[in-house]
Amino acid sequence: MGLTSSYDIPIELNFQPKQRLILEAPSSFILAGGAAGGGKSWVIRAMAYIYSISMPGLQTYIIRRELKSLVQSYLAGDGGFPVMLQPLVDAKLCKINYSTNTISFKNGGAKRNRWAGGSVIRLIHLSSQAAIESITGAELGLALIDESSSLPEEYIQHIITRVRLGSWRPPEDSPYKHCVPKIVGATNPSGVSRLWWKKKFVDVLEPYKLTKVEGESLPLLFVPSLAIDNDALMQSDPGYIERLRSMDDEVKRQMYLYGNWNVDLDALFTNSFKESENKLPQFKLPAGQKVYRNFDWGSSAPFAVIYNIVCDGTAIEIEDKKYYFPKGTIIIVDEIFGGDPHNLEKGLGISDIQIGEHIRKYELEHLNHVNVLPGAGDGAIYTRDNNKHCQVEDINRGFYGREMYDINCLFKPFYKPAGSRIEGYSKMRSMFVAGHGWKNQSLTSPALFVTSNCRYWLQQVPNLPRDPKNIDDCSKGTRDEFADVTRYIVLTNSPQVRTITASVY
Ligand SMILES: Nc1ncnc2c1ncn2[C@@H]1O[C@H](COP(=O)(O)OP(=O)(O)OP(=O)(O)O)[C@@H](O)[C@H]1O
Ligand SMILES: [Mg+2]
Repeated sequence: MGLTSSYDIPIELNFQPKQRLILEAPSSFILAGGAAGGGKSWVIRAMAYIYSISMPGLQTYIIRRELKSLVQSYLAGDGGFPVMLQPLVDAKLCKINYSTNTISFKNGGAKRNRWAGGSVIRLIHLSSQAAIESITGAELGLALIDESSSLPEEYIQHIITRVRLGSWRPPEDSPYKHCVPKIVGATNPSGVSRLWWKKKFVDVLEPYKLTKVEGESLPLLFVPSLAIDNDALMQSDPGYIERLRSMDDEVKRQMYLYGNWNVDLDALFTNSFKESENKLPQFKLPAGQKVYRNFDWGSSAPFAVIYNIVCDGTAIEIEDKKYYFPKGTIIIVDEIFGGDPHNLEKGLGISDIQIGEHIRKYELEHLNHVNVLPGAGDGAIYTRDNNKHCQVEDINRGFYGREMYDINCLFKPFYKPAGSRIEGYSKMRSMFVAGHGWKNQSLTSPALFVTSNCRYWLQQVPNLPRDPKNIDDCSKGTRDEFADVTRYIVLTNSPQVRTITASVY
């Protein structure tokens, strides 16, 4: 687009066809949704820029959930505003305030040469209910919501109520005067409000067709996007599609590569955990093998103990063949299900001392002569009450039959940092995939396996349902004690990735 601005500074922005459709659509509510890399964030920047210079006084808000990603996508890098607006900034016609994340244009007043009354682009992040209040009272002529499915639907509805022109009118000579007010949501098909966007746009609209829908103040438009739409990306990074294609998680591949909104959201580990690949026959532990004991607490809900080994390069004999797994490979070799075998949702309802005794009894019967060491324990059992007492002390006492001086004798605390559920599940997924083909192929990175005797683990983890609102997490309210402990294990054992060939004899 060889546009000339009202300041006669040539603007070199080449909109691709779908980007142009979004730019030129009349006043509407648009969903630019689909695959990664389709040029959604670029069109948000370019549109904010073009509208701001051709409609002096326009109030644009660019909104994202997280401040960090907002700054990274818009105020940094080659494609960010500082580079895009450099000619205007150099001509002192535009300024970027990095402390308020505001971009102001010197096009206010009758002669369009003043800062006051000029166009403004505000970059804001809405990470909390308090932040959403910051736009109460504002009038948004152009609302551009990036990664819009990551915002809860209440936030989006609040934004919509703020979109109006107020007493401001676009100038008669602007080619975009019919294009405001406008809302654009740009997103991949995942995130907390994905179903809201899907129901409003994807399920009911013919793509690319502006549609007046009863009860909606603005006409709606759905513009699907694919990475291959983006010529700029195809030229600068031709390997991008291949990288999307090689993602471990089929659901994510469907979303990010094909922009598919209708993927079947089945289990969290479908396509990564494969019984034929990740379930190993039970084998005899090598002499002196260290086994780690890991724990998730429960009383009315089940507790769980998982025993795992971490491969160190020594051979493991499975069905009379020797296998060398990559160093750091985790094999879950035993388990205790601390619940009612006839009602898997129900815990044993026993005291912490009894939990300790229960674990002791199990180890005496099944893991006698095995070198069992403390693994990861649910951080909650280390929280001290007003009497400075914590639950793990009772569990230790039940296990050893006496007060223990070392609080970490049974487990070591695993404190769950924010985001650790999703990080842990994602790591489990890639470690499951890393184990595919162990029988006849070289494994190159640490994998995750479970032995066939761990029947409660095998009953729960592979079937853990996804949360349809947050596809990286499991559904709220489902039993997940074994998945939780496995997550602690993979996050505490962060092995150095080293390439070691798994050989078969
Ligand atoms: N019309 C264009 N001209 C030049 N570069 C472009 C254009 N459209 C997109 N790009 C560049 O292509 C790359 C990917 O585009 P962009 O980041 O906008 O995609 P996206 O759809 O937001 O991706 P994601 O889903 O990952 O957020 C960026 O480097 C961007 O600057
Ligand atoms: Mg983007």
